[in-house]
Amino acid sequence: MLVISVSSLKGGVGKTSVALGLASAAHNRGLPTLVVDMDPQADASTGLDVPVTTPLDIADVLAAPKAKIMSQAIVPSGWSGGAKGALDVIPGSPRSAEFDRPTMSERFLRRLKDALATVSDDYRLVIIDCPPSMNGLTRAAWMASQRVAVVTEPGLFSVAAADRALRAVAELRRRGAPDLQPLGIIANRVRTKSREHSFRVDEMREMFGPLLLTPPLSERTVLQQAQGSARPIHSWPGQAASELAGSFDALLDRGLRTSTMRSRGNPRDAQVPNAPAVDAQAGEAPVGEARAGAVQADDVQAAQQPTTDVSEQIPADSSAPGAEEQDSTNPFTDDSASSTGTPATEDAEEAPRRPRTRH
Ligand SMILES: Nc1ncnc2c1ncn2[C@@H]1O[C@H](COP(=O)(O)OP(=O)(O)OP(=O)(O)O)[C@@H](O)[C@H]1O
Ligand SMILES: [Mg+2]
Repeated sequence: MLVISVSSLKGGVGKTSVALGLASAAHNRGLPTLVVDMDPQADASTGLDVPVTTPLDIADVLAAPKAKIMSQAIVPSGWSGGAKGALDVIPGSPRSAEFDRPTMSERFLRRLKDALATVSDDYRLVIIDCPPSMNGLTRAAWMASQRVAVVTEPGLFSVAAADRALRAVAELRRRGAPDLQPLGIIANRVRTKSREHSFRVDEMREMFGPLLLTPPLSERTVLQQAQGSARPIHSWPGQAASELAGSFDALLDRGLRTSTMRSRGNPRDAQVPNAPAVDAQAGEAPVGEARAGAVQADDVQAAQQPTTDVSEQIPADSSAPGAEEQDSTNPFTDDSASSTGTPATEDAEEAPRRPRTRH
């Protein structure tokens, strides 16, 4: 069972959107998946079409991480038509905010990990949607995870927050979570025609090297429409939705490939319908001396990232609609701005000065 936290230390950059997109990709290919909604805002639960009130939720799990509590807290997502086991959710709760303090006991921080251990045979993938802070809830999520996907927007403050998040991952790895590694940085809401976005994406490539995952996610209003209807992006009609779905497929593939899970370790992992086989080579090989700018060398090494451009490793035969045109998922080659109604020339004028991110 691969556990991925979707995080950023900044609010509103697209954590929940990425968590939902990955869940949509996993669901589309029949991967038994559990989404854990650690954010007291419970946006992921809403997007997954979970009833507003459920008997138990994440607050109960964190209070008592027992198998019996887990079995009652886990509910099927509305996306899977009420059938449990395909795409399930531990719903978020405002009551979990009481755990979101800067100082929480080591015992508390291990509770989600303990709880997930009781269902490790039931799911191939666990996706945790985190709150935008580095307090108890995010720490507990990271302690339970093997990978952290850091979401950022291509803006000065967001890039700085992504850098801080990578450092925090490295720190927690040294302090009691030896299996924790960054999956990488996901650039979200990227607009092709924006010079500021291009500048920031280039800057991130310099800072983070191969930890900057491809493809970046375009800004698309269809994502908001799908979320507003509590539907998976893979079921949303139109070319823009297909392109986004293809991007999430590629990011999910990347997560599965760099997973420390070995396909021989658990028979279930080797028999995922429609899923590409876990690439044991990519998952086990250390990264060597990959450069990652501000990031410490051991962050990158532990991340087991390939030293080459990651885009080379994304299979062209993703199962998502629209994914056959891989190029079209790349906002640097298409005209995503026009689909959002943003004029292509919105910031065609040269900005006088762009401060670089401090790190
Ligand atoms: N690629 C995208 N294209 C268009 N809209 C997007 C995109 N990504 C996110 N959004 C929108 O941006 C808003 C914030 O996204 P989201 O809720 O996923 O961020 P978040 O990081 O989870 O926020 P919070 O910190 O409050 O939990 C939402 O309205 C979402 O629909
Ligand atoms: Mg959120």
